[in-house]
Amino acid sequence: MSNLQNGIKTDSVRLSEDGGAVIIIDQTELPNRTVYLELKTAEQVYEAIQKLRVRGAPAIGICAGYGMYVTAQALDLSSYGNFYSAFKQKKDYINSSRPTAVNLSHALERMERIVKENDGLSPVEILPLLKEEAENIHKEDIEMCKAISEYGLTLVKDGDGILTHCNAGPLATSRYGTGLGTLFLGKERGYEFKVWCDETRPLLQGARLTAYELFNAGIDVTLICDNMASTVMKQGKINAVFVGCDRVAANGDTANKIGTSGAAVLAKHYGIPFYVFCPSSTIDFTCETGEDIKIELRSPDEIKTMFFSEPSSPEGVKCYNPSFDVTDGELITAIVTEKGICRPPFRESLYKMFRKEE
Ligand code: MRU
Repeated sequence: MSNLQNGIKTDSVRLSEDGGAVIIIDQTELPNRTVYLELKTAEQVYEAIQKLRVRGAPAIGICAGYGMYVTAQALDLSSYGNFYSAFKQKKDYINSSRPTAVNLSHALERMERIVKENDGLSPVEILPLLKEEAENIHKEDIEMCKAISEYGLTLVKDGDGILTHCNAGPLATSRYGTGLGTLFLGKERGYEFKVWCDETRPLLQGARLTAYELFNAGIDVTLICDNMASTVMKQGKINAVFVGCDRVAANGDTANKIGTSGAAVLAKHYGIPFYVFCPSSTIDFTCETGEDIKIELRSPDEIKTMFFSEPSSPEGVKCYNPSFDVTDGELITAIVTEKGICRPPFRESLYKMFRKEE
């Protein structure tokens, strides 16, 4: 993996000019250093996703799409059979890097479908089709983020206080972002939002990434510890909560960064609307409810040592580090998608918006 030191000039995930590498911004280095990485193998793509160098559900999907195209070029291209079995193996491997964000498997399924549907072609002829599909995944995300942001803007007014958790901005997606897209689009149109940004323990996506993105865009952002959300809500500073999502079940139950469900419970208590911003690539109709969503467990080191100069707790103490939680659909005011705003009951509204036409 080579480092390309630069300022941020481009998408957080993209294909290199020669098509031989996925280029990502290493999000673990932000906000202190802007480091670009070139991913040239399935192992490097796996590592980058697993270690959260690239993170955020849509960005992971885009990275996986390009990653499969880059990987495919180095496979045995002499016969379709050999090519497909090696492709499938790499695809399953990358899919095992993180379990919760469904965008990863959605993107990988799309890439595999291209190979399966073109079994009459040679692997060399299939490669450009894979490139096109990966680019489509990326382009569609850009369009979805823009459309979601437009819908989001209909839910708020100039001067509103918005609480957000984790990072659902351009780094986690393409361009505008989902949960933060409305804030960037609003800024372009002259809205002055006051954003309250949960730091998002343990990996600090809010402090490191959301605060960085909003602050650099000139948006009024104030960082708080996660356990201060109740106080700012009680003080009347929050008009709406905006979050992204990693997997939305058919009934609207939503997996997102750990701590999201707590923010939703607080919002309900204080009568504040709680909005989930969700591209259709994050909806999983095979999950009936949030019970069906697999929650990633991560290393205790993320809680105990990662962001401290000395360990923050006794070395041997037990530690539980679920990376996501599920917010009950009944706590969600609306799910904002690229096709429109879904209101409860979500089983009906999501179905009507996304399944009816299938
Ligand atoms: O562990 P992470 O940082 O990948 O978790 C990301 C989130 O929870 C985001 O809120 C979610 O992926 C939505 S990004 C548009």
